[in-house]
Amino acid sequence: MTDTKRIVLSSDHAAIDLRQAIAKHIAAKGWEAVDIGPTTPESTHYPEHGAAAARRVASGDCSLGIILCGTGQGIMMAANKVAGVRCGVCSDPFSARMIRAHNDAQILSLGARVVGEGLALDIVDAFLETAFEGGRHGTRVDMITALEG
Ligand code: RB5
Repeated sequence: MTDTKRIVLSSDHAAIDLRQAIAKHIAAKGWEAVDIGPTTPESTHYPEHGAAAARRVASGDCSLGIILCGTGQGIMMAANKVAGVRCGVCSDPFSARMIRAHNDAQILSLGARVVGEGLALDIVDAFLETAFEGGRHGTRVDMITALEG
């Protein structure tokens, strides 16, 4: 992870309102929120938005990312296809801390039809406030990377 406080946000049509609430929330905490949309409610395709956010992280343009769809699952699957990216779906703050501390996930995925705004913001805070622990977890993360072939 780079040291910049620049974080990419994207979603499909199912999560526009929650994504924009999160962008506002993290900007108030000093993050540069790079919100790559979409902004209109037409039905769209979550793989495109997951990949676009993941590429911003993989390239180093953004240090972290937050992506959303209805469940958080489909967009997470797409993001994890981009080499070097680790993304997990979280519906609770404990899991959000753990995907940073143990898995060095750079991207958090949320389901806008699963979690309400208050819980989502707590999950986001847990994700952003936790650092990777390294050590034995680093060995395991390296093993994940090696699976990319
Ligand atoms: C869109 O209806 C829905 O399938 C999508 O937001 C997401 O939940 C997919 O995983």
